[in-house]
Amino acid sequence: MTNHEGIGIRITGTGSYLPEKILSNKELEGMVDTTDEWIQTRTGIVERRIAADDQPSSALGALASLNALDAAGLTPEDIDLIIVATISPDKIFPNTACFVQKRIGASNATCFSVEAACSGFVYIMAIGAALIRTGLYSHALLVGAEKLSSIINWNDRSTCVLFGDGAGAVVLSACAPEDNTYLYSKLGSDGNYTDILHVPGGGSAIPFSADVLKNELHYLNMSGQEVFKLAVNTMVAAAVETMEAANVTKDDIRWLVPHQANTRIIHSVAKRLDMPLERAYINVDKYGNTSGATIPIALDEIVRNGLVSKGDYVLLVAFGGGLTWGANLIRW
Ligand SMILES: CC(C)(COP(=O)(O)OP(=O)(O)OC[C@H]1O[C@@H](n2cnc3c(N)ncnc32)[C@H](O)[C@@H]1OP(=O)(O)O)[C@@H](O)C(=O)NCCC(=O)NCCS
Repeated sequence: MTNHEGIGIRITGTGSYLPEKILSNKELEGMVDTTDEWIQTRTGIVERRIAADDQPSSALGALASLNALDAAGLTPEDIDLIIVATISPDKIFPNTACFVQKRIGASNATCFSVEAACSGFVYIMAIGAALIRTGLYSHALLVGAEKLSSIINWNDRSTCVLFGDGAGAVVLSACAPEDNTYLYSKLGSDGNYTDILHVPGGGSAIPFSADVLKNELHYLNMSGQEVFKLAVNTMVAAAVETMEAANVTKDDIRWLVPHQANTRIIHSVAKRLDMPLERAYINVDKYGNTSGATIPIALDEIVRNGLVSKGDYVLLVAFGGGLTWGANLIRW
């Protein structure tokens, strides 16, 4: 396909995979100085999933991908692009999308990963759509896959109660322009906040060493309250800008699918957007924050539970470390 104007984009399949092992708030009470009541009141989280030792992020991503391919009626060989959003890559390099490719046998795909933290999935959806619009790719497999349990300090109660493992995947396919369902994306970043949500050590700034290990710099570190405020502001702004650009109002949106970090953040976003809370999809209670995986997991649940119909507007919105933020608008 070379006629860029003539290419539409639509979601042809969704999938997800959550590891079997459940870690409840009650169990966390025995690990750090916390309570089920504190965690539920401050975050809405009740339990999260923990991947097995032999399941790196790509293993979770591959299972979600096979699920999405099945829903799309496609084989791995049909996929010509795989993009993975993750902050818990299998290795520093090669990129995790190559590991997913190998696991599912998608031998015709170009593979790369994006590290936009919890905004990762809205980023890769915008990137995947843009690449399909060039005419170079027909079926993009977009995967959010995280084994955050591998970068969490299980002695730090201020972070370990918040996160979990899981993966979600979406197949985005080229289609006739009249079948296009992908309407608009707004992405943003602010590098002034690189140190409020990060893994300080183990990269090229502070290479891995005995000191990194001793000072626990290889674990996720966060200034919770600062992140909270910025999260609400950036998500609301991205959602508003996206709706305005697509000429859609808040009343048109069937599902607001926000990044699942904390129910208080989701409630604040819905309130500021003046949207009824029933239209905001929430599953953070079951899985905690799975970073780049929360949105495709939520989307898959919405689809598999028959909660979305043709013509419904679905607004995905996220924020994360970087800072990064963004929104995608889809008409189902
Ligand atoms: C992390 C978060 C839940 C903390 O809630 P908060 O209301 O801001 O709580 P604070 O950080 O002010 O801590 C309040 C108290 O609870 C304590 N506390 C922290 N974690 C705790 C836990 N798991 N159990 C019990 N007490 C805890 C703190 O030590 C503090 O005690 P102190 O007052 O004696 O110092 C909240 O800031 C948040 O959700 N931030 C956004 C995080 C996020 O979404 N990150 C992902 C971005 S993608």
